[in-house]
Amino acid sequence: MTTPKDVDLMLDTVLPDDHVLQLNRQNCRRCGLPDIEVSVQQARLLETLVSISGARRVLEIGTLGGYSTTCLARAVGEQGSVITIEYEPKHVEVARDNLTMAGVADRVIILTGPALDVLPRLAAGSGPFDFVFIDADKDNNKAYLEWAVKLTSPGATILVDNVIRDGRVLDSSRPEKLEFVRAFASHPELVNRSVIQTTGGKGWDGFAIARKRPFVNRILEV
Ligand code: SAH
Ligand code: DHB
Ligand code: MG
Repeated sequence: MTTPKDVDLMLDTVLPDDHVLQLNRQNCRRCGLPDIEVSVQQARLLETLVSISGARRVLEIGTLGGYSTTCLARAVGEQGSVITIEYEPKHVEVARDNLTMAGVADRVIILTGPALDVLPRLAAGSGPFDFVFIDADKDNNKAYLEWAVKLTSPGATILVDNVIRDGRVLDSSRPEKLEFVRAFASHPELVNRSVIQTTGGKGWDGFAIARKRPFVNRILEV
């Protein structure tokens, strides 16, 4: 029987990874990093979203070996920049090599440490970001969403990976995923929200995407 993975393998030919991205994944496997990068087609979607939004400053939470980081860095163009956060020193090392190989190391800063320790440091002046990709430890997604809202410009795009994970979003013994969806659904600063279920080589999962309110409501003091 045909599986979602079979279909993903066929879809990988729609706009495949180029040689550099193939090498990136190979380096990750050779160094023993888990096989959990975004899929080929998810990577293409990330590139599309960044380019149609015209984002120049991107924040990523969860670097792994820098596969999605490379896609984001390419999509922002030469004038753009990406800050990416990763707490595993080995992942940072692989990511650095992969970003150098891709020729985008000069537009990427990797910040090493637990994201919840690193994010407050960004509030001091690295932002505002116009695109945030959240893809680290899923139980902190609600907190990461708050930081993303805090650190972005009006109209920015916020994308959160792995919000469904085999339907765990409805598992009451692990409420974090549902709490995330509820927080996402009711966040006063977000517009154009949707949560999309996905299937494919990485199984049944999904992502949440929203735009931060584009208008700054300011009451002028007189
Ligand atoms: N975005 C990557 C995949 C990220 S996998 C890609 O698509 O190519 C998730 C990564 O988040 C792992 O490398 C993991 O080490 C990192 N991570 C998990 N919890 C974290 C935390 N609290 N702070 C920083 N990084 C974290
Ligand atoms: C898994 C998938 C992901 O996209 C991720 O960011 C982390 C883990 C997984 O399949 O376990
Ligand atoms: Mg993910």
